[in-house]
Amino acid sequence: MITALKLMRNKNKKDNPIICICNNVPKKTIEQAIARGCKTLPRIYDATSAGVGPCGGSCRSTLKKMLDHYLKTGEFIKR
Ligand code: FES
Repeated sequence: MITALKLMRNKNKKDNPIICICNNVPKKTIEQAIARGCKTLPRIYDATSAGVGPCGGSCRSTLKKMLDHYLKTGEFIKR
């Protein structure tokens, strides 16, 4: 049985997926950091803790794509 809470959780995962699994950092947290002036990967790491987990940074390529897209277009990747 699907409850309203499960539906809400699924919608949230879709709208705001976890980008850095090691440190449980969602997409919107990273976007907020970039929008507030984190224009390099090390600054994003410092501001959010994304990219510096025990896996050694497997999410860094995604962080780079997000940052590069924003710096190029002024917008965040939609999905
Ligand atoms: S998934 Fe981001 S550091 Fe491991």
